Amino acid sequence: MVSRVIPVENFDLVIFGGTGDLARRKILPGLFRRYCAGQIPENAQIIGAARSDEGDEGFRKIVGDAIREFGGGRHCEDGTLDNFLERILYVRVDAMGDDGWLELKDRLRSDVVKAFYFSVGPSLFGALAERLRGFGLADDDSRVVVEKPFGHDLETARALNKTLAQHFDEHQIYRIDHYLGKETVQNLMAVRFGNMLFEPLWNAQYVDHIQITVAETVDVGGRGGYYDKSGAMRDMVQNHLMQLLCLIAMEPPARFEPDAVRDEKLKVIRALDPVDYHHIARGQYSADEHQPGYRAHVGDPRSKTESFVALKCHISNWRWAGTPFYLRTGKKLRGRGSEIAVVFKDAPHSIFGDEAGRHSNVLAIRLQPDEGMTLDVTIKEPGPGGMRLLDVPLDMSFAEALGDDADEVPDAYERLIMDVIRGNQTLFMRGDEVEAAWAWTDPIIEGWNRRGEVPKPYDAGSSGPEDALMLMHRDGRKWREIKA
Ligand code: BG6
Repeated sequence: MVSRVIPVENFDLVIFGGTGDLARRKILPGLFRRYCAGQIPENAQIIGAARSDEGDEGFRKIVGDAIREFGGGRHCEDGTLDNFLERILYVRVDAMGDDGWLELKDRLRSDVVKAFYFSVGPSLFGALAERLRGFGLADDDSRVVVEKPFGHDLETARALNKTLAQHFDEHQIYRIDHYLGKETVQNLMAVRFGNMLFEPLWNAQYVDHIQITVAETVDVGGRGGYYDKSGAMRDMVQNHLMQLLCLIAMEPPARFEPDAVRDEKLKVIRALDPVDYHHIARGQYSADEHQPGYRAHVGDPRSKTESFVALKCHISNWRWAGTPFYLRTGKKLRGRGSEIAVVFKDAPHSIFGDEAGRHSNVLAIRLQPDEGMTLDVTIKEPGPGGMRLLDVPLDMSFAEALGDDADEVPDAYERLIMDVIRGNQTLFMRGDEVEAAWAWTDPIIEGWNRRGEVPKPYDAGSSGPEDALMLMHRDGRKWREIKA
């Protein structure tokens, strides 16, 4: 049932920062899985480029170890890893100087797709882009792939866009938000635009509110330095939650094509009202007798950065005026789970009388883990004794529905890197989209800084601070449970 694999064109992919964490955890294992699936041509080249002196053999060892550690293809035949490693090359390159660039150029072929993955900090984007052009490695068909964080605010995002635009055209720039590569996130579009059932009800007349939750159990890990300068708002809301909001709220694009989809997403972001600061709850996980808290993790006993944020926002357009969207994300929460819940309004009149209670349909789309969908429907409670109503879930798990095929669903990075080679930007963010998202996020963060706000502490393993519960409670609503 899983889509058939269509091999991509032959390519040279250069990974700057090829020995770094992202490359080892995601990019290289992802490429290997696509190789096992038969999607990568036999003579494609994957070239690591970094400052250290690895040589081809040294880098092959790093790649082999990374694949073994972070999930090599389970379904690969013996010997496939060795074959894959023959595709791997390495060049020592100085991003800020001239060393290595001509050697790298020598290794590139002229008749294949060329893609350059900037798996490095944004401060190097400009230097890399300039040298790729200056030394003649990139042409007008080459692609560059950049990762988040794409800027720290509107000003820095604009500057990055400007820098990249000096060397590459927008159709060559692939800004990754890995949430868009998740199979279930793409499924949001299939559910909305592939079923007649939902779309007529998908508006303020029938939808009471929408909840988007991305809950994590992990702490900030070894990324304290980066995270403490970002916080949940910049790290998750400005990009991942914003993308989910766009996909759930946008108008149907005329086609599933890059600019048609991205135009519609941009309209949603631009229609977002500024958020009232009373409609935001900010939290930071605290220490307990078993474990250190956020401040110890980031090494700043006075840190005011949030590891949790919940907020209510409104989209001022005809479809959504009057329907609030509640967004929530945080680390060290009770359970790991990303979910979008569309909570429909109550029936306008109950023929069963007040004693039957209030019942509303909820369509919950589980993005991870246990990907699937649940639709709560109201039925009669079985048995004699009058008409009592009961809500029951129509529950669909993708793993059950797809059987063995569900195991073969590619990870977000696998899908996105193959899209780069195919030249399909549908699941990548356009420059104006990123800027619009910052333009909405910046005043929220500036407000916190101006008021000197300190996030509220919350217990590790909880559902976040009390303020987040109150945010819903005040509106007579409640969050869906974060399951342990
Ligand atoms: C990253 C954030 O973009 O997404 C991390 O920087 C976060 O802080 C991660 O943990 C979550 O991704 P996923 O795929 O595990 O939901």
